[in-house]
Amino acid sequence: MTPEENFMRKIEAGEKIEPKDWMPDDYRKNLIRQISQHGHSEIIGMQPEGNWITRAPSLRRKGILLSKVQDEGGHGLYLYSAVETLGISRNELIEALQTGTAKYASIFNYPAQTWGDMGAIGWLVDGAAIVNQVSLQRTSYGPYARAMIRICKEESFHQRQGYEIMVTLSRGSAAQKAMAQDSLNRFYWPALMMFGPHDSESAHSARSMKWKIKRETNDDLRQKFVDQTVKQIEVLGLEHPDKDLKWNEERGHYDFGEIDWDEFYNVINGNGHANRQRIEHHVRAHEEGEWVREAMHAYRDKKRSAKQQ
Ligand code: ACO
Repeated sequence: MTPEENFMRKIEAGEKIEPKDWMPDDYRKNLIRQISQHGHSEIIGMQPEGNWITRAPSLRRKGILLSKVQDEGGHGLYLYSAVETLGISRNELIEALQTGTAKYASIFNYPAQTWGDMGAIGWLVDGAAIVNQVSLQRTSYGPYARAMIRICKEESFHQRQGYEIMVTLSRGSAAQKAMAQDSLNRFYWPALMMFGPHDSESAHSARSMKWKIKRETNDDLRQKFVDQTVKQIEVLGLEHPDKDLKWNEERGHYDFGEIDWDEFYNVINGNGHANRQRIEHHVRAHEEGEWVREAMHAYRDKKRSAKQQ
């Protein structure tokens, strides 16, 4: 059996591919692309909510938000570690993010304007992320699949805390309910865009499905999210932002309105509301952290030379 045949045998048998196993070059490259972009999304995703930590309405809310944002940072580091097992360095990953070679989730280029957005982001953005990530727990690359298991547990807490904010606001004063509705209106469609282009337009899907990197397609995952969100909006007593939403008895799913794909491509190509600001902030934070990296390297070198003596 050739290495390639053995690789495909493992994929078909549902076995995990581990870092030292033989793998096709394109499988490695595609994983580096997807996992690194996933990691970048977690890291850049700290910014819209980080912006609200100092303005949280109570100590309890502040503590929860702080720990959620820290979790996202942890997810990013987990994913960077997973992608480093494929033979790329952290420096190369960061450079790709900062120079725009690597993408990150479109959603994080939308500004967080109100406290209601903390609810909508936790509920819808983390909710959409979970739908995708639950399926990625079964991805074929071992380190990625294992990272997803832990990350999903934490995302589930994030989703609930966001929904709880929405429940509180929608049961509050008229102004609070209006704030919840406004956040839902602004984040609903961008959350649907998180699943990527239609399957017919998705450059990587066919190969990623064959290699079991992706276990469900962009459109199938998006449909799951649409279906599960309808009831949640009803419970909040808010209006659904999609006027074309309709139950389709035959399909057993909701039909829904068309996404604004011009907006999606504009945002992923760097022209969203906050793209420039997000990267500038990352560059600044990275430069300000240089002394920490220097101290770590000095400590490592000191330990190494002590061992050699
Ligand atoms: N935001 C930014 N870029 C996107 C998005 C999006 N929502 N959806 C698709 N793209 C990009 C792809 O990265 C790809 O660009 P590239 O070739 O430069 O890498 C291009 O659009 C074409 O899309 P697809 O062929 O459909 O790409 P892919 O097969 O990678 O599917 C998906 C996209 C579904 C996002 C996949 O990469 C994935 O499941 N990633 C892991 C999950 C993830 O990254 N989640 C991010 C949010 S998690 C959080 O909340 C922090």
